[in-house]
Amino acid sequence: MPAPITTAVFPVAGRGTRFLPATKASPKEMLPVVDKPLIQYAVEEAIRAGATRLVFVTGSSKRAIEDHFDTDAGLEAALAAAGKDELLKIVRDIVPSSVTCIYIRQGEPLGLGHAVLCARAVVGKEPFFVHLADDLIDADEPVLLQMRRQYEAHGCGVLGVETIPVEHSASYGIVAVETTGEGHHLIRQIVEKPKPENAPSNLAVVGRYLLPPEIFDRLEHTGRGAGGEIQLTDAIADLLESHPVAAYPFQGIRYDCGSKLGYLKATVELGLQHPSLGPEFASYLRELVGRGASSS
Ligand code: G1P
Repeated sequence: MPAPITTAVFPVAGRGTRFLPATKASPKEMLPVVDKPLIQYAVEEAIRAGATRLVFVTGSSKRAIEDHFDTDAGLEAALAAAGKDELLKIVRDIVPSSVTCIYIRQGEPLGLGHAVLCARAVVGKEPFFVHLADDLIDADEPVLLQMRRQYEAHGCGVLGVETIPVEHSASYGIVAVETTGEGHHLIRQIVEKPKPENAPSNLAVVGRYLLPPEIFDRLEHTGRGAGGEIQLTDAIADLLESHPVAAYPFQGIRYDCGSKLGYLKATVELGLQHPSLGPEFASYLRELVGRGASSS
């Protein structure tokens, strides 16, 4: 039986310049989609996949993330005194008491690989998840849980992948795979942000990784790669020489909330699904589209 996975690493030190000025004083991971910040969707997914230790690799201007996952006794007392029991429950349920949050500072913004390496001492010698909160994935079964099942079946590292238009390859880690008779996609090559003409395929890694602890030894020796940063992709390429890693085309719809358009799409789609807001929001959107049709 493969080792259990209890730790999820959330690299959250990035500045989020694409969302300035919204992200000047507030972390991009705290941008709300409907009524929850992106990082809360991330944490809920990891907890549903079995994580009980959440490791946030943070940087400057990220205190709001710690505050969000900490108890706010004053707020809870005020909600209780006002009889706002539903809101009190929402606030208390942000993280279950069985889950531990750990914060590590990434002193310098040296890249995703460096951020993951910063978590080494806390992760220890077990496989672990890495979750990039920018990639919000709406799925019946949380994507990290889908990936954990793959890991339990095959005992190897797993990367969440999806097919992209090849002209977008320079925004992603791109993999080339060999597919076994059972439909298991073993990664043969992985390249960070290749130009379309150099991309080994149109299968892109999205922000979900299940990695063995051996990745840390590779990261220790990974030099600067694409964009002058220490890339997780390059360490995975190195790992492939000794450890099998599979690409897993997850079930679910990904919203790239690192881009304004992706963020807007997520807001609309999750707004439509919201239990209390959804129906009214849907009729508003129908009316809005009808107005556009009648004025054209
Ligand atoms: C990171 C990874 C890249 C991956 C992408 C998914 O890039 O380096 O391999 O495909 O996340 O969102 P970033 O978007 O941080 O530039």
